[in-house]
Amino acid sequence: MTAVHWSPQRWRDLPAAQQPPWPDAGELERALEELAAMPPLVFAGEARRLTAALADVAAGRAFLLQAGDCAESFTEFSADAIRDKLKVILQMAVVLTYGAGVPVVKVGRIAGQFAKPRSAATERVGDVELASFRGHMVNDDAPLASARVPDPHRLVDAYHQSASTLNLLRAFTKGGFADLSQVHLWNQEFVAASDEGRRYEKIAAEIDRALRFMAACGIDLARETTLRQVDFYTSHDAVILGYEEALTRRDSISGDFYDCSAHMLWVGERTRQLDGAHVDFLSGIHNPVACKLGPSTTPDEVVALCARLDPDRTPGRLTLVARMGATRVTDALAPLLAAVADAGHPVVWACDPMHGNTITSEGGRKTRRFDDILSELKGFFAAHHEAGTWPGGVHLELTGDDVTECLGGYGDILEGQLHERYTTTCDPRLNARQSTDLAFRVAELLRS
Ligand code: PEP
Ligand code: CO
Repeated sequence: MTAVHWSPQRWRDLPAAQQPPWPDAGELERALEELAAMPPLVFAGEARRLTAALADVAAGRAFLLQAGDCAESFTEFSADAIRDKLKVILQMAVVLTYGAGVPVVKVGRIAGQFAKPRSAATERVGDVELASFRGHMVNDDAPLASARVPDPHRLVDAYHQSASTLNLLRAFTKGGFADLSQVHLWNQEFVAASDEGRRYEKIAAEIDRALRFMAACGIDLARETTLRQVDFYTSHDAVILGYEEALTRRDSISGDFYDCSAHMLWVGERTRQLDGAHVDFLSGIHNPVACKLGPSTTPDEVVALCARLDPDRTPGRLTLVARMGATRVTDALAPLLAAVADAGHPVVWACDPMHGNTITSEGGRKTRRFDDILSELKGFFAAHHEAGTWPGGVHLELTGDDVTECLGGYGDILEGQLHERYTTTCDPRLNARQSTDLAFRVAELLRS
């Protein structure tokens, strides 16, 4: 298949994994028509800016911080939650920039991360077998058969929630909240009281001093937009292809297609089939794209994926997200790094230390150990050091809330505490304290 014949609909002729069993095809098409008439959420020019920023990452001049919810929720939706998530990401970016001296490209799993690929079509909740929860864009997580029926109106609701989320993010990042003089504000109370929070405060105080110094030298800080505003991009897993197709538009400047549902889209471990619909869809849009790679990925497979997704070898176009698991990363990553380097693709390599390290606690909850997450990150950095390639970024599931979903880390969350504040609708996330802790560790890895 050549890119010449690509169209936003072409995926429909290919095998598409993970598409929900929508009960009424007519109702689905009406929802998709409604979406196709909606304004774009992002603009092509913004997606191109992100590609340029990622090109710096691919060249080893910057670091990618991609983070946010496993699955955004229709019910846990509030301005405070969005603000707190942004706070922790800005806080981590400060730790990384200050600690490692590299610019940080900030990309949220946010404003569209509503669809979940699942390993099985059904799941057991207590004594009943139910259709799996596929994200609020598709069905509801309540443990009832009726709640699990896919409802196409949810696609439209997901669009609207994405629009209001993005609107607030734009206001926060361009309207003063992300001003470097606000660094103290990003340290939430429950983080500030911890060792990591105090360590962060020291950096914040040094930034204050540097800003006062610049002002004393006569620099008009109020006019320095790089100090006052932040570029913050959105991304999500492009699972539901009808939704992505409906939001794909031809850019009037370049004539190219862009998926205007987010700045960056990725395919997951379960949807990255070379001849499948998802890879075909991503191959034709001009946004920066990413592909998750699990431990079974072969060098031939990754080279073929690079050829499909980055045929022109464009720096910043393709991000490869390794999610190997702490015990597999050392052996699994090295052959892939070598194969991609040999094939000459200027990709960004990022580490997702979350999805290969999910375990079930004795109490039956999905969780992840902070130590496993850290250990996979160390393996990722070591493999790059060995290969002479740049460990370009991290891909994390986190929240600004004080949840108890991952074990260990600062404050040492124990198995018996998981139930206390376990609110995720899908995978366990790092809380803001664990995230800050992790940022300091990644900064150390970057420095060494
Ligand atoms: C995810 O990122 O939430 C996810 C499901 O990842 P993966 O496709 O790597 O399993
Ligand atoms: Co997840």
